[in-house]
Amino acid sequence: MRVRNRKGATELLEANPQYVVLNPEDAKGKWHEIFGNDHPIHIEVGSGKGAFVTGMAKANPEINYIGIDIQKSVLSYALDKVLESDVPNIKLLWVDGDSLTNYFEDGEIDQLYLNFSDPWPKKRHEKRRLTYKTFLDTFKQILPEHGEIHFKTDNRGLFEYSLVSFSQYGMILKGVWLDLHASDFEGNVMTEYEKKFSSKGQVIYRVEAQF
Ligand SMILES: C[S@@+](CC[C@H](N)C(=O)[O-])C[C@H]1O[C@@H](n2cnc3c(N)ncnc32)[C@H](O)[C@@H]1O
Repeated sequence: MRVRNRKGATELLEANPQYVVLNPEDAKGKWHEIFGNDHPIHIEVGSGKGAFVTGMAKANPEINYIGIDIQKSVLSYALDKVLESDVPNIKLLWVDGDSLTNYFEDGEIDQLYLNFSDPWPKKRHEKRRLTYKTFLDTFKQILPEHGEIHFKTDNRGLFEYSLVSFSQYGMILKGVWLDLHASDFEGNVMTEYEKKFSSKGQVIYRVEAQF
């Protein structure tokens, strides 16, 4: 998903350092200090306009959430939601998911979410998929031993690819949902894309994979 540049996005992000971590290199190893507590830290890589992380932060005040996106304009829309919801347990980070070891110490993150990640259907773009093995290397490093990735998508091709990628990496598939909304899964927080695609009748897939 590419979003048109939003005028004033930089200024908006810079004006809200209580939510936007502007020098993430300095945060490495200090995330609990930044949140001011020792609660678990969950991140969403590719958090888009922030409905999921904001909803999760509201629903789970005892967990800290970090929404991460590579697009500054997109992150500024997430900031709108965060400001509106006024929850203390959320931060936003404008960085590339492939560089997370620069900003998080080994094992500093307790859980990682990927939601409706860009499918990059062409084989020559495989390395850009967030479930490609080099991303899994990065995620594994910042998660604890046996850490988990929870992944949702409407894209059948990316879902199948990711199941294979997780398995080939040696991860355990703890749970697989082939139609999340028709299942008895409780506490699902919808993302922007999830709302859009499910309203069109698309099935939502979900997997919990453990290193
Ligand atoms: C299709 S959108 C989904 C947004 C949101 N998770 C949702 O479900 O509504 C994918 C998002 O991932 C972000 N993204 C893509 N590649 C990324 C990367 N390497 N690191 C961080 N974010 C990335 C994009 O900028 C975009 O906002």
